[in-house]
Amino acid sequence: ENIVSSTNDILKQQSQELSQEQSKNGMVCLAEAQTDGRGRRGRKWVSPYGASLYFSMLWQFDNGYQAMSGLSIMVGVVLNNTLAQFGVTSSRLKWPNDVYGNNKKLAGILIEVEGQADASVSAIIGIGLNLRLPNDLQGIDQAFTDLSDLLEKPFSRNELSKKLIENLWLALPVFEAQGLNPFIEDWDEADLYKNQEVVLISGDKRVKGVARGIDNSGALLLETDQKIKPYYGGEISVRPA
Ligand code: ATP
Ligand code: BTN
Repeated sequence: ENIVSSTNDILKQQSQELSQEQSKNGMVCLAEAQTDGRGRRGRKWVSPYGASLYFSMLWQFDNGYQAMSGLSIMVGVVLNNTLAQFGVTSSRLKWPNDVYGNNKKLAGILIEVEGQADASVSAIIGIGLNLRLPNDLQGIDQAFTDLSDLLEKPFSRNELSKKLIENLWLALPVFEAQGLNPFIEDWDEADLYKNQEVVLISGDKRVKGVARGIDNSGALLLETDQKIKPYYGGEISVRPA
Protein backbone atom coordinates (compact mmCIF):
# COMPACT_ATOMS: atom_id res chain seq x y z
CA GLU A 1 0.00 0.00 0.00
CA ASN A 2 1.20 3.36 -0.95
CA ILE A 3 -1.08 5.94 0.64
CA VAL A 4 0.18 9.41 1.52
CA SER A 5 -1.33 12.68 2.73
CA SER A 6 -0.32 14.45 -0.48
CA THR A 7 2.51 13.60 -2.88
CA ASN A 8 3.39 17.31 -2.84
CA ASP A 9 3.89 17.15 0.95
CA ILE A 10 6.20 14.16 0.69
CA LEU A 11 8.47 16.00 -1.72
CA LYS A 12 8.32 19.16 0.38
CA GLN A 13 9.69 17.19 3.32
CA GLN A 14 12.36 15.62 1.13
CA SER A 15 13.38 18.98 -0.17
CA GLN A 16 13.82 20.33 3.37
CA GLU A 17 15.85 17.33 4.45
CA LEU A 18 18.33 17.49 1.60
CA SER A 19 21.19 19.96 1.78
CA GLN A 20 21.65 22.76 -0.74
CA GLU A 21 24.39 20.83 -2.54
CA GLN A 22 22.39 17.68 -3.08
CA SER A 23 20.64 17.61 -6.40
CA LYS A 24 16.90 17.39 -6.15
CA ASN A 25 16.02 17.65 -9.76
CA GLY A 26 13.73 14.95 -11.02
CA MET A 27 12.90 13.45 -7.64
CA VAL A 28 9.46 11.89 -7.96
CA CYS A 29 6.68 10.73 -5.63
CA LEU A 30 3.89 8.50 -6.94
CA ALA A 31 1.04 7.30 -4.73
CA GLU A 32 -1.96 4.96 -4.94
CA ALA A 33 -4.17 7.24 -2.87
CA GLN A 34 -4.02 10.53 -0.99
CA THR A 35 -5.79 11.33 2.27
CA ASP A 36 -5.28 15.06 1.88
CA GLY A 37 -4.99 15.71 -1.86
CA ARG A 38 -5.43 19.38 -2.70
CA GLY A 39 -5.96 21.77 -5.57
CA ARG A 40 -5.46 25.50 -5.77
CA ARG A 41 -6.39 27.77 -2.87
CA GLY A 42 -6.92 24.94 -0.44
CA ARG A 43 -9.58 23.18 -2.49
CA LYS A 44 -9.80 19.44 -2.18
CA TRP A 45 -8.52 16.99 -4.80
CA VAL A 46 -10.59 13.81 -4.50
CA SER A 47 -8.04 10.97 -4.49
CA PRO A 48 -9.58 7.48 -4.25
CA TYR A 49 -7.37 4.40 -4.11
CA GLY A 50 -5.87 3.23 -7.42
CA ALA A 51 -8.19 5.43 -9.49
CA SER A 52 -5.82 8.14 -10.62
CA LEU A 53 -2.22 9.09 -11.02
CA TYR A 54 -1.08 11.07 -7.97
CA PHE A 55 2.27 12.37 -9.03
CA SER A 56 4.80 14.99 -7.95
CA MET A 57 8.24 15.99 -9.22
CA LEU A 58 10.79 18.29 -7.64
CA TRP A 59 12.84 20.79 -9.63
CA GLN A 60 15.20 23.48 -8.42
CA PHE A 61 15.28 26.89 -10.08
CA ASP A 62 18.36 28.93 -9.33
CA ASN A 63 17.00 32.33 -10.31
CA GLY A 64 14.06 32.44 -7.97
CA TYR A 65 10.41 32.95 -8.85
CA GLN A 66 11.22 34.90 -11.98
CA ALA A 67 12.59 31.80 -13.69
CA MET A 68 9.43 29.89 -12.84
CA SER A 69 6.76 32.05 -14.37
CA GLY A 70 4.68 30.00 -16.73
CA LEU A 71 5.76 26.68 -15.23
CA SER A 72 2.20 25.38 -14.87
CA ILE A 73 1.57 26.22 -18.53
CA MET A 74 4.63 24.22 -19.60
CA VAL A 75 3.63 21.28 -17.39
CA GLY A 76 0.12 21.34 -18.88
CA VAL A 77 1.57 21.19 -22.37
CA VAL A 78 3.86 18.28 -21.45
CA LEU A 79 1.00 16.39 -19.79
CA ASN A 80 -1.28 16.97 -22.76
CA ASN A 81 1.41 15.86 -25.23
CA THR A 82 2.02 12.75 -23.12
CA LEU A 83 -1.68 11.91 -23.28
CA ALA A 84 -1.54 12.37 -27.06
CA GLN A 85 1.28 9.78 -27.21
CA PHE A 86 -1.18 7.34 -25.65
CA GLY A 87 -3.84 8.10 -28.23
CA VAL A 88 -5.93 10.78 -26.52
CA THR A 89 -7.12 13.25 -29.13
CA SER A 90 -9.84 15.15 -27.32
CA SER A 91 -8.01 16.70 -24.36
CA ARG A 92 -7.70 20.47 -24.04
CA LEU A 93 -5.85 22.87 -21.75
CA LYS A 94 -7.65 25.32 -19.51
CA TRP A 95 -5.62 28.26 -18.23
CA PRO A 96 -3.73 28.16 -15.99
CA ASN A 97 -3.61 24.61 -14.61
CA ASP A 98 -6.19 22.13 -15.84
CA VAL A 99 -6.61 19.49 -18.52
CA TYR A 100 -10.12 18.88 -19.81
CA GLY A 101 -11.60 16.05 -21.87
CA ASN A 102 -15.00 16.54 -23.54
CA ASN A 103 -15.44 19.71 -21.49
CA LYS A 104 -14.97 17.86 -18.22
CA LYS A 105 -12.06 18.01 -15.85
CA LEU A 106 -9.53 15.22 -16.45
CA ALA A 107 -6.42 16.44 -14.65
CA GLY A 108 -5.15 19.29 -12.49
CA ILE A 109 -1.72 20.72 -11.84
CA LEU A 110 -0.64 22.20 -8.52
CA ILE A 111 2.74 23.90 -8.31
CA GLU A 112 4.05 24.77 -4.88
CA VAL A 113 7.27 26.54 -4.00
CA GLU A 114 9.87 26.12 -1.26
CA GLY A 115 12.59 28.68 -0.68
CA GLN A 116 13.20 32.41 -1.00
CA ALA A 117 11.82 34.57 -3.75
CA ASP A 118 15.12 35.86 -5.12
CA ALA A 119 17.35 32.85 -4.36
CA SER A 120 17.23 29.22 -5.33
CA VAL A 121 13.67 27.88 -5.07
CA SER A 122 12.37 24.34 -5.31
CA ALA A 123 9.26 23.85 -7.34
CA ILE A 124 7.04 20.95 -6.41
CA ILE A 125 5.12 20.03 -9.52
CA GLY A 126 1.99 18.09 -8.59
CA ILE A 127 -0.22 16.34 -11.13
CA GLY A 128 -3.50 14.53 -10.50
CA LEU A 129 -4.70 12.62 -13.55
CA ASN A 130 -7.92 10.62 -13.38
CA LEU A 131 -7.48 7.12 -14.82
CA ARG A 132 -10.50 5.06 -13.82
CA LEU A 133 -12.70 6.62 -11.17
CA PRO A 134 -15.31 4.57 -9.28
CA ASN A 135 -18.84 4.95 -10.68
CA ASP A 136 -20.28 6.09 -7.38
CA LEU A 137 -17.63 8.74 -6.69
CA GLN A 138 -18.89 11.62 -4.53
CA GLY A 139 -17.44 14.95 -3.58
CA ILE A 140 -16.52 16.63 -6.86
CA ASP A 141 -18.63 19.73 -7.45
CA GLN A 142 -18.05 20.07 -11.20
CA ALA A 143 -18.14 17.87 -14.30
CA PHE A 144 -15.22 15.43 -14.38
CA THR A 145 -13.95 12.61 -16.54
CA ASP A 146 -11.19 9.99 -16.59
CA LEU A 147 -8.81 8.47 -19.11
CA SER A 148 -10.85 5.28 -19.52
CA ASP A 149 -13.71 7.52 -20.76
CA LEU A 150 -11.50 9.06 -23.44
CA LEU A 151 -9.64 5.96 -24.61
CA GLU A 152 -11.19 2.84 -26.09
CA LYS A 153 -8.10 0.71 -25.71
CA PRO A 154 -6.51 -0.26 -22.40
CA PHE A 155 -3.55 1.74 -21.14
CA SER A 156 -0.84 1.03 -18.63
CA ARG A 157 -0.54 3.24 -15.57
CA ASN A 158 3.16 2.38 -15.32
CA GLU A 159 3.88 3.23 -18.94
CA LEU A 160 2.01 6.47 -18.56
CA SER A 161 3.95 7.43 -15.43
CA LYS A 162 7.23 6.52 -17.10
CA LYS A 163 6.51 8.65 -20.18
CA LEU A 164 5.37 11.56 -18.06
CA ILE A 165 8.56 11.47 -15.99
CA GLU A 166 10.70 11.21 -19.14
CA ASN A 167 8.89 14.03 -20.90
CA LEU A 168 9.11 16.38 -17.90
CA TRP A 169 12.77 15.48 -17.41
CA LEU A 170 13.47 16.50 -21.01
CA ALA A 171 11.24 19.59 -21.03
CA LEU A 172 12.37 21.20 -17.75
CA PRO A 173 15.92 22.07 -18.95
CA VAL A 174 14.44 23.49 -22.17
CA PHE A 175 12.09 25.62 -20.09
CA GLU A 176 14.97 26.78 -17.85
CA ALA A 177 17.01 27.84 -20.86
CA GLN A 178 14.30 29.28 -23.10
CA GLY A 179 11.23 29.88 -20.99
CA LEU A 180 7.79 29.27 -22.42
CA ASN A 181 8.49 30.14 -26.06
CA PRO A 182 9.10 26.56 -27.23
CA PHE A 183 5.76 25.50 -25.68
CA ILE A 184 3.38 28.24 -26.78
CA GLU A 185 2.45 26.73 -30.13
CA ASP A 186 1.38 23.48 -28.47
CA TRP A 187 -0.62 25.44 -25.90
CA ASP A 188 -2.41 27.35 -28.67
CA GLU A 189 -3.40 24.13 -30.39
CA ALA A 190 -4.90 22.70 -27.23
CA ASP A 191 -6.34 25.91 -25.72
CA LEU A 192 -9.87 25.14 -24.46
CA TYR A 193 -11.17 28.73 -24.60
CA LYS A 194 -9.19 30.23 -27.48
CA ASN A 195 -11.24 32.95 -29.22
CA GLN A 196 -14.22 32.33 -26.97
CA GLU A 197 -16.09 34.68 -24.66
CA VAL A 198 -15.00 34.11 -21.08
CA VAL A 199 -15.29 35.71 -17.64
CA LEU A 200 -12.27 36.07 -15.40
CA ILE A 201 -13.17 35.83 -11.74
CA SER A 202 -10.95 36.98 -8.91
CA GLY A 203 -12.63 37.49 -5.56
CA ASP A 204 -15.50 39.92 -6.19
CA LYS A 205 -14.07 41.12 -9.48
CA ARG A 206 -15.31 39.94 -12.85
CA VAL A 207 -13.98 40.85 -16.28
CA LYS A 208 -15.63 39.69 -19.48
CA GLY A 209 -13.83 39.43 -22.80
CA VAL A 210 -12.55 37.15 -25.53
CA ALA A 211 -9.67 34.80 -24.70
CA ARG A 212 -6.75 35.31 -27.09
CA GLY A 213 -4.24 32.75 -25.88
CA ILE A 214 -1.22 33.39 -23.65
CA ASP A 215 1.96 35.50 -23.76
CA ASN A 216 5.46 34.18 -23.16
CA SER A 217 5.22 34.74 -19.41
CA GLY A 218 2.16 32.52 -19.24
CA ALA A 219 -0.31 35.38 -18.74
CA LEU A 220 -3.78 34.96 -20.20
CA LEU A 221 -4.50 37.45 -22.98
CA LEU A 222 -7.99 38.90 -22.79
CA GLU A 223 -9.51 41.17 -25.41
CA THR A 224 -11.95 43.82 -24.19
CA ASP A 225 -13.03 46.84 -26.29
CA GLN A 226 -10.52 45.93 -28.99
CA LYS A 227 -7.64 46.05 -26.55
CA ILE A 228 -5.70 42.98 -25.49
CA LYS A 229 -4.45 42.89 -21.92
CA PRO A 230 -2.42 40.23 -20.05
CA TYR A 231 -3.83 38.76 -16.84
CA TYR A 232 -1.37 37.15 -14.46
CA GLY A 233 -1.59 35.02 -11.53
CA GLY A 234 -2.91 32.38 -9.33
CA GLU A 235 -6.05 33.98 -8.01
CA ILE A 236 -7.91 34.10 -11.31
CA SER A 237 -10.46 31.52 -12.47
CA VAL A 238 -11.69 31.42 -16.08
CA ARG A 239 -15.24 30.42 -16.97
CA PRO A 240 -17.23 30.44 -20.20
CA ALA A 241 -19.22 33.70 -20.51
P1 ATP B 1 -9.84 27.09 -11.42
O1 ATP B 1 -8.53 26.38 -11.47
O2 ATP B 1 -10.29 27.59 -12.75
O3 ATP B 1 -9.91 28.11 -10.36
P2 ATP B 1 -11.19 24.69 -10.41
O4 ATP B 1 -12.58 24.76 -9.88
O5 ATP B 1 -10.86 23.64 -11.38
O6 ATP B 1 -10.98 26.08 -11.02
P3 ATP B 1 -8.92 23.89 -8.82
O7 ATP B 1 -8.44 24.42 -7.52
O8 ATP B 1 -8.03 23.98 -10.00
O9 ATP B 1 -10.27 24.61 -9.14
O10 ATP B 1 -9.28 22.37 -8.61
C1 ATP B 1 -10.00 21.92 -7.49
C2 ATP B 1 -11.39 21.51 -7.92
O11 ATP B 1 -11.31 20.38 -8.79
C3 ATP B 1 -12.27 21.03 -6.79
O12 ATP B 1 -12.93 22.11 -6.18
C4 ATP B 1 -13.26 20.08 -7.50
O13 ATP B 1 -14.32 20.80 -8.09
C5 ATP B 1 -12.43 19.52 -8.62
N1 ATP B 1 -11.90 18.16 -8.34
C6 ATP B 1 -11.51 17.63 -7.16
N2 ATP B 1 -11.05 16.38 -7.30
C7 ATP B 1 -11.16 16.09 -8.62
C8 ATP B 1 -10.85 14.94 -9.40
N3 ATP B 1 -10.31 13.83 -8.89
N4 ATP B 1 -11.11 15.03 -10.73
C9 ATP B 1 -11.64 16.13 -11.29
N5 ATP B 1 -11.94 17.24 -10.60
C10 ATP B 1 -11.70 17.22 -9.28
C1 BTN C 1 -6.06 21.65 -9.34
O1 BTN C 1 -6.78 21.34 -10.28
O2 BTN C 1 -6.26 22.64 -8.62
C2 BTN C 1 -4.80 20.89 -9.10
C3 BTN C 1 -5.01 19.50 -8.57
C4 BTN C 1 -3.68 18.83 -8.33
C5 BTN C 1 -3.79 17.47 -7.72
C6 BTN C 1 -2.46 16.79 -7.57
S1 BTN C 1 -2.56 15.09 -7.10
C7 BTN C 1 -0.84 15.02 -6.80
C8 BTN C 1 -0.48 16.33 -6.11
N1 BTN C 1 -0.73 16.22 -4.68
C9 BTN C 1 -1.70 17.05 -4.29
O3 BTN C 1 -2.12 17.14 -3.10
N2 BTN C 1 -2.17 17.76 -5.31
C10 BTN C 1 -1.50 17.41 -6.56
